[in-house]
Amino acid sequence: MPDTHFLRQPDVKGHYNKVADNFDDYFAEIHDSQLQSVVEKIDLQPHHLMVDVGSGTCRFAEQVHKFAQLQKPIICVEPFPEMLAKAKGRKGVLPVLRGGEEFFNDASLCDWFDRVLFIQSYHHLKDPSSVLQNIERSLRPGGICSIWNLTTHSCFERFTRVTTAKLYSSSRHEETYRLLQQANLKVERSNVLLTYDLTKAKLYSMLRGRFITNLYELTDQEIEDGIDKLEKNDFKSLQEDDVIENKATYLVIQGTKLNSINNNMNS
Ligand SMILES: C[S@@+](CC[C@H](N)C(=O)[O-])C[C@H]1O[C@@H](n2cnc3c(N)ncnc32)[C@H](O)[C@@H]1O
Repeated sequence: MPDTHFLRQPDVKGHYNKVADNFDDYFAEIHDSQLQSVVEKIDLQPHHLMVDVGSGTCRFAEQVHKFAQLQKPIICVEPFPEMLAKAKGRKGVLPVLRGGEEFFNDASLCDWFDRVLFIQSYHHLKDPSSVLQNIERSLRPGGICSIWNLTTHSCFERFTRVTTAKLYSSSRHEETYRLLQQANLKVERSNVLLTYDLTKAKLYSMLRGRFITNLYELTDQEIEDGIDKLEKNDFKSLQEDDVIENKATYLVIQGTKLNSINNNMNS
């Protein structure tokens, strides 16, 4: 069956080409607020070898590497050169210009990685089922594949109420859970709540720059009309530099590769 979620997305490459210059600025507060939660949730240890799939500019991977005091660089898999061009000079990362599909299709990657991380990138996979099967092969026993999907994001939701921008799709979460199980991983799910501050000016610049693909289909005029409505209602008493508190929730679905003894007992 074709992956209609992916086909509905307008032009992912075009989007990330355009957003690459400002990506780090748009996501700085989000990255900072999620750092500790990610490292704790995946129980990242200094000796681990980790892959960040859809790493974007590798800003977040660089933060993770430093925070978790990793001994080996994080392998950053990203298909778009404009995004990886921003990774030059970053410490603790090994950029690989490939999509997740192609990277994990390499059969020589067997019992190799301790952690495989997707932050807001899993939904871009064209054939998630085979990618997850290949990831299972590439994980060491006890290794974890951790998939983080934003499910709520208060500042963006305010904007969706006054425009035609779409909220995050929830259609894939059940499927993700099932596909991880089918890939023979022990699966768990949980919610992680983040809070972070954005100035009003920063929020408007993120909306104008279409910081997430959900905004891609809106015209410049539609975005300006939406900002105008926020300006006249929700944010009318705020100055440009006043801070808006944001709440975001990630649904984290992660699978652990069982060692062969556990596997035999489970079957
Ligand atoms: C919303 S961004 C998230 C970037 C980064 N994980 C972060 O949290 O800052 C999604 C990323 O997935 C990448 N991507 C798109 N298609 C992909 C694919 N087939 N395989 C791996 N990554 C992909 C995009 O280029 C983009 O960098």
